[in-house]
Amino acid sequence: MRALITGVNGFVGKHLEEYLLSDHIEVWGTTRNTLNIQGGAKNRIAMGFSNEAEMIEVLNHVKPDMIFHLAAQSSVRKSWDKVVETLESNVISSANFYEAIRKSDIGEKVRILSVGSSEEYGMVISDSMPINEECALNPISPYGISKVSQYMLAKMYMKLGLQIVHVRPFNHIGPGQDLGFVTSDFSHQIAKIELGMSEQIMKVGNLSAKRDFLDVRDIIRAYSEIIRKGIPGEAYNICSGEPVSIADILTSLVALSDKEIDIVTEPSLLRAIDIPLYIGSNKKITSTINWKQHIGIEETLGDVLNYWRNRVKIEGRV
Ligand code: GDD
Repeated sequence: MRALITGVNGFVGKHLEEYLLSDHIEVWGTTRNTLNIQGGAKNRIAMGFSNEAEMIEVLNHVKPDMIFHLAAQSSVRKSWDKVVETLESNVISSANFYEAIRKSDIGEKVRILSVGSSEEYGMVISDSMPINEECALNPISPYGISKVSQYMLAKMYMKLGLQIVHVRPFNHIGPGQDLGFVTSDFSHQIAKIELGMSEQIMKVGNLSAKRDFLDVRDIIRAYSEIIRKGIPGEAYNICSGEPVSIADILTSLVALSDKEIDIVTEPSLLRAIDIPLYIGSNKKITSTINWKQHIGIEETLGDVLNYWRNRVKIEGRV
């Protein structure tokens, strides 16, 4: 069994690669450029999503049984500043990639995972929680719109013969996630305070929002199975079903430190529109594959904070 991961050097890609290798699957990964190659990792190919001939060459060379299409602009916040870039990275690139897959030798045989988001649902009234896959798609952010478009592409290309399974992960967090996402932003500040690199003040955004968090290591276990057993053209939520407020995330992380930390609201971190509550239903995926959450939020938060403690210590100011 051979897998190709686009965006293999990203947060999710690295965890997925490690998991697939431990499952004795041969893994190849594409990156934006060869400079991204890390740690002497093998089977890396520099590939963009605009040169069709180059993509077809890669696909015919690797001949994967599964393609995890992770490469994307994944920040909701950034999508407001980079609307066109988000649509290009997430929608146009995917369409270009699917065209290349269709024209390659592996077209109708390969199983493909399309990564959407709970942001596809947009603003959902609390009576409709937990959100299942039948819920109307009313995205409100450029990011959410890009992810609905990826879902539409998955359905369209399914009719054209590709086997694309679309997933809608809710918030996924864990060690290795970049800055710009809430648990990394909070942990990074705590790590700097602990090392005496900054004042004992944390700047935070909206604390009242509630999100349905899962550890990335739980998410990628679901990816590796649903790509094989999901129905092409269908969407599957991946979520815990338990909402946690950002205020509680902050309290838990601060409690893991022995420093006295003051909290201030940073206006630039507040969003013009921010979804107040997400609770997902995972009934569909748990009735399709043998998956359940293994890692609780407290364990994940401890791992994220330790990741940032190590990283700040090694790299100094990040
Ligand atoms: N990033 C960030 N930084 N968010 C903050 C902060 C902060 O300092 N303070 C409060 N927040 C709030 C945001 O306003 C939002 O309500 C919540 O924390 C979560 O923000 P993010 O971690 O940036 O995640 P997101 O919900 O916008 O998007 C994530 O989840 C989607 C699935 O629902 C991303 O992981 C997406 O890629 C994913 O699709």
